[in-house]
Amino acid sequence: MDKIISVEVKNLVKKYGNFEAVKDISFDVKKGEIFSFLGPNGAGKTTTVKVLTGLLKPSSGEVSVLGMDVLRGIDKIKSRIGFVPDQPYVYPYLTAFEYMRMIGDIYKVPVEKQQKMIPELFEMFELDGRSGEIIDSFSHGMKQKLVISGVLLHDPEIMFLDEPLVGLDPASARLVKDIFVRLAKSGTTVFMCTHVLDIAQKLSDRICIVNGGRILALDTFENLKKNYASDSDLESVYLGIVGGTGGKQIKMLDGI
Ligand SMILES: Nc1ncnc2c1ncn2[C@@H]1O[C@H](COP(=O)(O)OP(=O)(O)O)[C@@H](O)[C@H]1O
Ligand SMILES: [Mg+2]
Repeated sequence: MDKIISVEVKNLVKKYGNFEAVKDISFDVKKGEIFSFLGPNGAGKTTTVKVLTGLLKPSSGEVSVLGMDVLRGIDKIKSRIGFVPDQPYVYPYLTAFEYMRMIGDIYKVPVEKQQKMIPELFEMFELDGRSGEIIDSFSHGMKQKLVISGVLLHDPEIMFLDEPLVGLDPASARLVKDIFVRLAKSGTTVFMCTHVLDIAQKLSDRICIVNGGRILALDTFENLKKNYASDSDLESVYLGIVGGTGGKQIKMLDGI
């Protein structure tokens, strides 16, 4: 794998008021890597992604993306990265086609390329036939697919995805998974927050497990398995590291 660093985070702290959502984390992500960011709700994943994409300012620490400091270089960085947020906020009264043209124009994708790619993306995500409808009429999964299509249209060097698989049907999830692998092979960096552990296990070059704003583990799945849990899957490794509620649930069900 290429050793060029796409994302570098040094001693990042992010506070909301007095509350430290991210507590002094450091890591890097290499070019062409699929990097999965896992952790329970409230662990600080979304906050971290928002800092990496310039939507939130770090309270302290250094964050660089594509070799540029995020605070100073965000305008240059933005045109070279793609972000799929956890909620597919898309202009509700644009049609899917209008949305794609808007994204294409914002990112200065040549019109001929837009004309070729937009129908291809719609077909791939089974949105063709719906492209003239306003986005407000779309389901969560359809909106999610549209946002992912928009990111693919402008071909970013790094894709940041916050729970990209939520709401997708199995075929779409599989498609997105295959796309990530193909993109990473061609040098795109994929940074993904996800709770879908079997996909993270299969896809990721490295997995970072966070909880309470701190990194608890960061390694390849193989090494995590060796260090934390024997011969089992990522779910067991993950629950071993962050602690699980499985025991409690089973107890509760005992009386039934
Ligand atoms: N805008 C905000 N104001 C105050 N607290 C916030 C805000 N956004 C997130 N938090 C808090 O920061 C912590 C981390 O949240 P988040 O980064 O969304 O976690 P995750 O994405 O891992 O579920 C949580 O305790 C959350 O309540
Ligand atoms: Mg989140």
